[in-house]
Amino acid sequence: MSEKKIGIITAGGDCPGLNAVIRSVVKFAINDCGARAVGFLDGFRGLVLNEYVDLTFDRVSNILSMGGTILGSSNRDNPFAFYYIDDQKEPMDVSDKVVETYERHDLSALICIGGDGTLSMSHEFSKKGLNIVGVPKTIDNDVQGTDQTFGFDSAVSTATFAIDKIRTTAESHHRVMVIELMGRTAGWLTLFSGIASGSDVILIPEIPFSLDIVCEKVVERSVSGKRYSIICVAEGAKVSGQEVILEGKDKRTGVVRLGGIGNLISNEIETRTGIESRTSVLGHMQRGGSPTPYDRVLATRYGSRAAALAMEGVFGVTVCLKGNEIDHFPLEKVANNPRRVPPDSEFVKIARTVSTSFGDY
Ligand code: F6P
Repeated sequence: MSEKKIGIITAGGDCPGLNAVIRSVVKFAINDCGARAVGFLDGFRGLVLNEYVDLTFDRVSNILSMGGTILGSSNRDNPFAFYYIDDQKEPMDVSDKVVETYERHDLSALICIGGDGTLSMSHEFSKKGLNIVGVPKTIDNDVQGTDQTFGFDSAVSTATFAIDKIRTTAESHHRVMVIELMGRTAGWLTLFSGIASGSDVILIPEIPFSLDIVCEKVVERSVSGKRYSIICVAEGAKVSGQEVILEGKDKRTGVVRLGGIGNLISNEIETRTGIESRTSVLGHMQRGGSPTPYDRVLATRYGSRAAALAMEGVFGVTVCLKGNEIDHFPLEKVANNPRRVPPDSEFVKIARTVSTSFGDY
């Protein structure tokens, strides 16, 4: 039998733990299966353009704790609507080029490490006959079928650390500090960081809020002698009956960038209550840096299971975490179906029991 060869891509917004997955896939494939591995550069773009690097044992040495991805990523590239250059007038369907590259390298499988968008595209390539195994990555934790994506724990840790620091200056200056977090249409990152930092108000996309109620909470705290408040708001949260606030749009893909809700809230609080307020947007800091030990372990588990599935010939799936067990889940159920916080989830309930307001009642 000829030697097996596994392709790997990292696509979509990066997060801590990508290198840990790459390392685990490659070491498992080489050590346990005598296979070879090749990494395509900058997500699907590398498959379109046949840009790659051989992933040897040496190449993946000492990358476990490194943030980012040694393969590069791109969340603007979709092979079904592809732009070779920025000022190209219309996108092109170059998905067949991905298939050609896959065949040229004689891959036994392609491991796609990505979030909701990447795994949806991966499902399309699965339908085109490629042997795909997904690995769920994202700080947003919004991939269907898994209890936790890798990268999420690191982002919660970074955000909590930042909010703890913001709390001390909020207290000194008797201010309301509104902290805006990432997450797109899912509130997991804001919810967990909000609970971990003991925030007074947590606002998430899944629970539309009232500015009146948020202001009442801040005033109530002030009257009871608590002269500062911490409000965590997800970039995708919205005032009841209003639209999500957009910061802009990617010129090429039309994908919207969320942002601005934090400023809206702090301006409204200051105008309505007279209490001085400031906004802090945590931004890409949440995606950067070294993975937490938990994420290093999870990424290593995900990587080796993905490689094992690829070797066993189990395709069209993504690895996932169920309870404390690593399992796999069909890609077709992941595609275009982000996992959001159920408004009656245990996490929301426990936050309410410690007097956190969600701005809804
Ligand atoms: O999906 C990950 C994520 O960090 C979201 O939380 C955020 O909305 C988005 O990516 C930001 O993307 P970009 O880096 O393209 O602005």
